[in-house]
Amino acid sequence: MKVLVVGGGGREHTLIWKIAKSPLVDKIYAAPGNGGIAEIAECLPISAEDIGGLIKFAKNVDLVVVGPEVPLADGIINELPKGKAFGPTKEGATIESDKSFAKELMKKVGIPSAEFKVFKSYESASAYIENAKEAIVIKVSGLAAGKGVFIIKDKEEAKSVLNEIMIERAFGESGNKIVIEEYLEGEEVSVIAFTDGKDFIPLLPCQDHKKLLDGEKGPNTGGMGAYAPAILTKLEIENVIEQIFEPCVWGLKKEGITYKGILYAGLIRTREGIKVLEFNCRFGDPETQPVLPLLETDIMEPILATIEENLKSISLKWKSDYATCVILSSRGYPVKYEKGKEIMGLNEISNALVFHAGTKKEGDKILTNGGRVLGVTGIGRSLEESIETTYKEIKHIRFDGMYHRKDIGKKGLKKNYKFT
Ligand code: AMP
Ligand code: GLY
Repeated sequence: MKVLVVGGGGREHTLIWKIAKSPLVDKIYAAPGNGGIAEIAECLPISAEDIGGLIKFAKNVDLVVVGPEVPLADGIINELPKGKAFGPTKEGATIESDKSFAKELMKKVGIPSAEFKVFKSYESASAYIENAKEAIVIKVSGLAAGKGVFIIKDKEEAKSVLNEIMIERAFGESGNKIVIEEYLEGEEVSVIAFTDGKDFIPLLPCQDHKKLLDGEKGPNTGGMGAYAPAILTKLEIENVIEQIFEPCVWGLKKEGITYKGILYAGLIRTREGIKVLEFNCRFGDPETQPVLPLLETDIMEPILATIEENLKSISLKWKSDYATCVILSSRGYPVKYEKGKEIMGLNEISNALVFHAGTKKEGDKILTNGGRVLGVTGIGRSLEESIETTYKEIKHIRFDGMYHRKDIGKKGLKKNYKFT
């Protein structure tokens, strides 16, 4: 089979690395790919957001796997032949691309989530904030690359965030609507599942680290590292599928939307139980980096079974190891970051996987080309061993302005957590 993978981040490098192991696949294209992907796939000069260009090229392949949310929200799947496309339709992707839609759906079908209100004007949101007594979270309703969520401590800050979104329009149309919700406290975990619209196969649970600085401080980022398996037992995952994933997909069906592909639930374990923070319509990034290396099954099996609506017939086999991924980012990320710095030491890595996020190949050199540059994933018999391996291997890599968190996975160690 010939496969086109849309995207060019760490998630897509990991997906391509895993797809390349499949005996069913003999050629992989990436659009646009990156410096690491170029080693195992043919990179095309087509942006992940150029739907026309992607559809045109797709005539050359048997299957298109879409990594990022933007092409899904723009309807790439609607335009591809049904048997050739992996991912939800534009309508399905609304679960991520419109947070107010997702919140209303959750309320309708009884999925536990934070109390919320939706606002379309500065005046009404501002009047609501004036009377708010508890801590609140303000969210841009549309897509914002993980940067549209603000945890608010006081009214001054709330007004300034509101002004940025609704008056200065820092997020463009994505900020036409906002969701203001109750602040939830607890430990977060991502559960990502394949669904063919009827059945569900979850991947190992994974914990992302969204804050820039150690100890969960600083601004939110796309994710600075992740480990798997994390914080949920098998029984809890079964409950999550039954109480969160099934009602979500059935609720969508009632609205006339068949959801097929990957469904990602960002969860938080509160004192009142597990609640949903957000749904995404794709694999997580960086969650994919530690999760897929633990998967023994050929990933083409669940991908093809999802498309053929035959997920019931397969099961996934996992290694009993742990994996930890630490993101190496560029000075200035997540705001303004530097690019074009030479990355040294990549060939000194012998005991970890290095998935490229923002890199490009120039001659023999690999240069930085994004905010999140590389993800280093170490595997071990225990979480502790996987953390140690990862940090030991990171020492080999150098580039000007390189930054990483020093405490990825630590939260999991404190709990002495065992996935059984
Ligand atoms: P989201 O994109 O909605 O998952 O939000 C990004 C991050 O903001 C989450 O991973 C949480 O760390 C935080 N967050 C979002 N909603 C809430 C909430 N209601 N209470 C507390 N933290 C939240
Ligand atoms: N790691 C968070 C996300 O993929 O949305």
